Amino acid sequence: MTNGRLRDRLPHLAYGGDYNPDQWPEDVWPQDVRLMREAGANLVSLGIFSWSRLQPREDSFEFGWLDRLMDLLHEGGIAVDLATATASPPPWLSHRHPEMLPVTADGVRLWPGGRQHYCPSSPAYREAARRLVSALAERYASHPALVMWHVGNEYGCHVPACWCDESARDFRAWLRRRYQTLEELNRAWGTDFWSQRYSDWEEILPPRRAPTWANPSQQLDFHRFSSDALLECYELERAVLAENSPGIPITTNFMGFFKPLDYWKWAEREDVVSNDSYPDPADPDAHVRAAMAGDLMRSLGRGRPWLLMEQTASRVNWRPVNVAKAPGQMRLWSLQAVARGADGVMFFQWRQSRAGAEKFHSAMVPHGPVESSPTWQEVVRLGGDLRRLDAAWGSRVHAEVAILLDWESWWALELPSKPSARLGMIEQLESYYRLLFEANVTTDFARPSDDLSAFRLVLVPNLYLVSDDAARNLAAYVASGGTLVMSFFSGIVDEADQIWLGGYPAPFRELLGLHVEDFLPLGVDGAEVRFADGTVDRCVIWSEMVRPHGAEVLATFAGGTLDGQPAVTRHAFGEGRAYYLATRLAPAAMSPLLRRIWQEASVGPVAEVPEGVEAVRRGSLLFLLNHSQQAVEVQTPSGSDRVLLPPREVVIVQDDSLIS
Ligand code: GAL
Ligand code: ZN
Repeated sequence: MTNGRLRDRLPHLAYGGDYNPDQWPEDVWPQDVRLMREAGANLVSLGIFSWSRLQPREDSFEFGWLDRLMDLLHEGGIAVDLATATASPPPWLSHRHPEMLPVTADGVRLWPGGRQHYCPSSPAYREAARRLVSALAERYASHPALVMWHVGNEYGCHVPACWCDESARDFRAWLRRRYQTLEELNRAWGTDFWSQRYSDWEEILPPRRAPTWANPSQQLDFHRFSSDALLECYELERAVLAENSPGIPITTNFMGFFKPLDYWKWAEREDVVSNDSYPDPADPDAHVRAAMAGDLMRSLGRGRPWLLMEQTASRVNWRPVNVAKAPGQMRLWSLQAVARGADGVMFFQWRQSRAGAEKFHSAMVPHGPVESSPTWQEVVRLGGDLRRLDAAWGSRVHAEVAILLDWESWWALELPSKPSARLGMIEQLESYYRLLFEANVTTDFARPSDDLSAFRLVLVPNLYLVSDDAARNLAAYVASGGTLVMSFFSGIVDEADQIWLGGYPAPFRELLGLHVEDFLPLGVDGAEVRFADGTVDRCVIWSEMVRPHGAEVLATFAGGTLDGQPAVTRHAFGEGRAYYLATRLAPAAMSPLLRRIWQEASVGPVAEVPEGVEAVRRGSLLFLLNHSQQAVEVQTPSGSDRVLLPPREVVIVQDDSLIS
C-alpha cells in the first residue's frame, strides 16, 4: 500500500484523539477547538460512531453538522482522520434486516443496543456500509481538513466471528475457493475421523457448538475465514475511499496481539498501521507488554512509522477495577510508543462522555474543571514534548533480532485436545520478549516465510504449525549463517493441522539435529534442568524426550522420567547454528542462556542503563525511559552528560547531548 503518508499532511508528530462532538451541543465545539490548540493537538479521529447521525433513516443523509465541524476544525488548524462510521450500525438497519445481526456458536443472536452488532458476511450490512462510505467519500474527499481515513473501528473486537446461516454460506464459498473439490476438503479436514465425510458442499457448517471437540482442521479454517470475512468488510470500504481520494492514507485501528485477525495480512492493506493500547496500570509488566505491542506494530508495517491511535489519559471503564495511571505514566507510555516507532500519539477520547457506557472512561478533557486537572496538565505537557520531537518523525528503529509470530500457527496451537492446555502463544512470546526488553535488545517480529537475512538472530518461541516452504526458509536462514533458537512443540503439523510424519518435528529434524520421541507435558511446575556447568534451574509447562543425532547437549532434565536426557541442544547447520529448548526455562536460566546466544550472534543492547530503564534508539535519537519506582542516574553514550532521572521521567539524547 502506498496511497500516501500521514507525515506529508501534518506539521509535527500526530497528537489528538477520538472526537465525538455529536454527543455534545454545538456551542461546545468552538471550546473544543480552543482547548485542542492549547493542548498542542493537531489531529482528531472524527465521527467513529456517528452512523445514526449521518444517516438517521435509510433514505436520508445528514451531513450539515459534519460539514460545519470539518470547517471549524480546519479553521482551527486541526486535521481530521475521518471515520467511516460503520462500526455501530444504526437501529433502522438491524430493524429492517434482523438477519444482519451476528450469531454465536451456540446459536444466540446478538441484539443491537451495544455496538459492532453485525455479521461480517451479511450482504445487507455490507451494502449499507458501502452506501454510507461512498456518500462520505464523495462529500469529503477533497475537504482540506481531511488527512487520513479511519475505516470502521477495532474490527472483530466484540464480534470476531459469526456462525449464522449467512456466514455458513460465505464459509462454504470460501472453502470452495480454497479446496476446489470436496474430495480435497475431505482430505484436508481428515473427515474419515469420527465419520465426518461430506458428500455435498451444502452439508458443511461453521463449527457451531457440538457435543464434543469439533474437527480441528475445520476450526482452523473457520479462523482463517473469519479473519478474511472481516478483511473483506474493510477492503470494500478501502476500495471506495482509495478511488475517491487518491493519496489520502487509510488506516484501521488494531488491538495489539489480537488473536482473531491475521494482522500480517491486514497490515498489507493499510497505508498506516495504527494501534489501540490499554496496558493495565495495576500490572507491573504493563510497560513490557505495551513495548511488545509497539514492536509488533512497527513490524507489521515493515518498519514504517505507525500510530498510537488510542490510549486512555488515565482510567478505562471496562476492567473490574479501573486503576488510574500514576502521574507521569501516560506521558511515559506515550513517549515509549514514539521511541518504538510511532509517528503520533492519540487517545480515546478527546472529551469525556456525559452519557453512555463509557462515561467513566478518562479522556483528554475531563468532566470537571479542565485547566486545573492533573490529567489535562499532563496532556498539555505531552503536546509540548511531541511538538519538539520532529527529529523522531518518520525515522526508523533498527532491530537485529526477530521473534517469529504466525497467526495460523497461533490459532492451531490453541485449539483444544493437545498434550497440554497450558501452552499459550502469548506466554511463549513473552518468555522470550521480556528478557530482551529487560536487556534493552531491540526486537522485531517477523513471519516464518519472511526474508530473515537482515537479522543476526531469529527466535521461534513456538511454531506448532509450519508449511513446507516456511520450514525450508528457516533452514536456509541458518544454513547461510543465521542463529536460530526454537522452543518445543514446533514443526508438528502442516497447514491443515495434520501431523508431519517421520518423527517430530519432521520439518526441523535436520536443522535441529534431533528428533522428539514423545511429549511429557508438566503438570505441576516442579521440574528442573541441569546445565553443563552444574547449575540447576526450574523449568515449567512442558518437557520432551529428545533424541539427538548431531545436536550437542547443553543442558539435561534433572530428576523424573527424563533425568539426564537433553533439555537444551545446539546444532551446527551449514554456516549457522540452531538451538532447541525442549522445555520452558524459568527466567533465571533462560536469561543467561539467551544472553550468551545473542552475544555469540554479535547482538548487543542499545545502551547500558540502570535496571528499570528502557533504552530504545530511533533514528538519531536515544530514548531513556525510567519505568522503575526509583530515581536513577543515566548518562549519554560517551558519558559526557549525566542526569538524574526520576521515576516515570524520560530523557532523549541526540548526538550525545540531552535534548529533552
Ligand atoms: C476501544 C474502542 C473505543 C473505546 C475504547 C475504550 O476498544 O475502540 O471506541 O471503546 O476502547 O477503552
Ligand atoms: Zn453471520
